[in-house]
Amino acid sequence: MKSIVLAGGAGTRLWPLSLVTSKQLQPVYDKPMIYYPLTTLIESGIRDILLISTPVDTPSFQKLLGDGSRFGIRLSYCVQQKPEGLAQAFTLGDRFIGQDNVCLILGDNLFSGFTEIPSACQRFTSGGTVFGYEVSNPQRYAVVNFDPAGKPLEIIEKPTHPKSNYAVPGIYFFDSDVVPIARAQVPSARGELEITGVMNEYLRRGTLQVLKVGRGAAWLDSGTTSSLQEASAYVQTIEQRQGIKIGCPEEAALKQGFLTPIQLKRQFDDGTIPSCEYRSYLERLVA
Ligand code: G1P
Repeated sequence: MKSIVLAGGAGTRLWPLSLVTSKQLQPVYDKPMIYYPLTTLIESGIRDILLISTPVDTPSFQKLLGDGSRFGIRLSYCVQQKPEGLAQAFTLGDRFIGQDNVCLILGDNLFSGFTEIPSACQRFTSGGTVFGYEVSNPQRYAVVNFDPAGKPLEIIEKPTHPKSNYAVPGIYFFDSDVVPIARAQVPSARGELEITGVMNEYLRRGTLQVLKVGRGAAWLDSGTTSSLQEASAYVQTIEQRQGIKIGCPEEAALKQGFLTPIQLKRQFDDGTIPSCEYRSYLERLVA
């Protein structure tokens, strides 16, 4: 399984925060937002990652994450000249995807305790897999319509009158058919190549699984000033209460065996990770 992280967009909903710093580089409590989706991918065992961002912001992501070797992953970059919708990620990433399966994750989505993600990733064989997560404000998201027997019928982007409370979070697993499917999409009324168009095509083919997520899993998005603040508060609460970090890619990489304790300790010694609270946490992990 390969993965694409989409970290583009103008971030206008965060203006003026987003004026000089990309949305996905804003702090969510003690780390840049992008660390969270990156950690989710590493926890799912994914090592081959393509990050898509804007011409202006891509160099900042490169400065922050480099070639990924610090986290034991392989990270490459692709510039999206204009934000023309989520489905564009698959046409921009077509050569990267090749004949492989791919997970698309949005750079402003934060998952915690979402054990369904690594297990769906491991079980994935073909077609598409997405999640249905109950929210109180489905109008903000792609929403799943189910028939009375609970079978997904259609997925609608930001419906005015949602037919269910099940929103689709910004993580999607597809086989390589996603490339021609994305290429066949036409811009929606709001001028975007919609991810819902891709999901609905898989539904039409009978190959989309919508997994309803149980209680206990947290999904937050941090694309507005309030949701950014809520995400920070959530992370701070859990981290202070438990003394563990959420969204720590080095920790996930150690657990996956992508990074050895020796490789991490070398980053302390050579000053890559300076003395700070974040390093003290990592030092405890490899003590
Ligand atoms: C995007 C997608 C939407 C999805 C959401 C998850 O919306 O278009 O389908 O439910 O991400 O965060 P956005 O938040 O970019 O408006």
